[in-house]
Amino acid sequence: MYYITTAIDYTNAPPHIGHAYEKVLSDVLARWHRLKGEEVFFLTGVDQHGQKVQQTAEKRGITPEQHAQEMTQKFLQLWDRLGISYDGWAETSDPRHIACVQKILLNLFNKGALYKKSYKGFYSVRQEQFLTDKERNEQGEFGPEWGEVVELEEENWYFKLSEQIPWLKDYANRSDSFVLPGFRKAEILNAIDRASEGDLCISRPKSRLSWGIEFPFDPDFVTYVWFDALINYISFAGYLNETDASLPEFNKLWPASCEVIGKDILVPAHGIYWPAMLHAMGFSDTQMPTLLVHGWWNINGEKMSKSLGNVVDPNALLDAFGKDAVRYYLVRDITTGKDSNFDVDRLVMLYNTELANDFGNLCNRSINMTRRYQKSRLTPLNGYDDDLSSQLRQSMESTVQTFSAHMDANMVGEALAILNGQVSACNGYIESQQPWQLAKDPTQEDRLNCVLRHLLECCTQIAYLISCVLPEASVRMLGQLNASEICSKLVPDHLSWGILPKCHQINDPEPVFPRILSKEEKAKLQNKAAKKK
Ligand code: MSP
Repeated sequence: MYYITTAIDYTNAPPHIGHAYEKVLSDVLARWHRLKGEEVFFLTGVDQHGQKVQQTAEKRGITPEQHAQEMTQKFLQLWDRLGISYDGWAETSDPRHIACVQKILLNLFNKGALYKKSYKGFYSVRQEQFLTDKERNEQGEFGPEWGEVVELEEENWYFKLSEQIPWLKDYANRSDSFVLPGFRKAEILNAIDRASEGDLCISRPKSRLSWGIEFPFDPDFVTYVWFDALINYISFAGYLNETDASLPEFNKLWPASCEVIGKDILVPAHGIYWPAMLHAMGFSDTQMPTLLVHGWWNINGEKMSKSLGNVVDPNALLDAFGKDAVRYYLVRDITTGKDSNFDVDRLVMLYNTELANDFGNLCNRSINMTRRYQKSRLTPLNGYDDDLSSQLRQSMESTVQTFSAHMDANMVGEALAILNGQVSACNGYIESQQPWQLAKDPTQEDRLNCVLRHLLECCTQIAYLISCVLPEASVRMLGQLNASEICSKLVPDHLSWGILPKCHQINDPEPVFPRILSKEEKAKLQNKAAKKK
């Protein structure tokens, strides 16, 4: 079972392009593993509790539930528009999740892994949090951004994180599957060293935060963020569930093959707290999940943030350019694990060149020529072959191999670049073979037939492979190639040359990737139309 999860998104604000990237990347990986014939369960959802949601709701004069639900709808609508094929939906206010978190808290309490203690420190009234020396400025003071700072004593619940550190250090050093890409491991090891002293505060008094999950053995407290949010990966996979038939069977899913998260929540949350929590619950080394850590989309080299006013709204992009362009760009123009700069001109350029001009045109021309020169039906090859065709076959075969290897390694952008390379090879093949000349010469019939077969076969294989990134475009393309049924029986591991039958009949062409026009191009077209009138 390929069990893939994403970070659950905070519902204090609407989704932005960073959230969309993580979901599209995970969706592409989920679809890739389904294509490979694996059983897949893809979980995503929203992180609804916490101070920020409570504060935003208070400002809006509504309840935290109302605010969280309103934002949750925005995430759901966006995932629908982007075609995110999740199997499970995680909302932290779901009673099934709450029950699981409470069972875990009780188990850990009974095991002696939790304790209550009093803490005295400096507290920012505005930010509603305790401050440490890290928050002091160069003058050694807490700056004006913290508002009124008072000394406060508060009791809270703590998780014995320090007890787990020796095991975690050993596990992180030994394991090759803990975190991907591999270069992130050093970050975890460094952070473990820093975390070796001190335990994790996991509660807030209800008087301060009411929008959270109540401690089953101390109702004056609610669980504070990570002890609630991280548990979604197991609660919605059916952990400790005995009665609810709507949840999956935990043993079938766990451990997660891939927990897709952004680099900002690797340490300490996912790289330290999460494995430590699981280990304290009794999970063994082989039951630890694999973390896939992606980089960030920045704007002109800067972090996207509300205060900078540079947040990119995925809905506006979808309105302007459509699902294919947005999905393609988000996984094409970034290397998994690294950061990239969001640039709408590159989105348009990549769509127009690689999809509209290169791939779209290739399919359109190939189908059109087959219709014109062979009445839409291929004829058997009769042993004919030539060097150019043999080279094209070889490059298609190696494209399948390399594409698959990159996808297996979660390197979607690189996999798409490989596919685009094959599209260019096909377009070059058309220029060299000049089918329109061959069609004029009856002695070249075998060669023409061979060229068209090679083109249609490549188009089919590429349309099949690209389905995990552009599922709807792939369906339309395979429909025109009349190859949907053929492809439904394939798995990429066994994909080899010759999937189209000897006398394959195709359907009529229809453009799949209409060009995105610039403002000038649109104006020109409008002018022309006006003149005609
Ligand atoms: N709620 C927590 C995660 C809990 S997981 C148990 C959270 N939420 S978030 O809404 O702030 O972020 C959700 C995901 O979006 C995170 O993985 C985060 O890294 C990712 N991204 C947020 N901004 C991003 C970019 N600008 N670019 C790419 N991904 C980014 O953290």
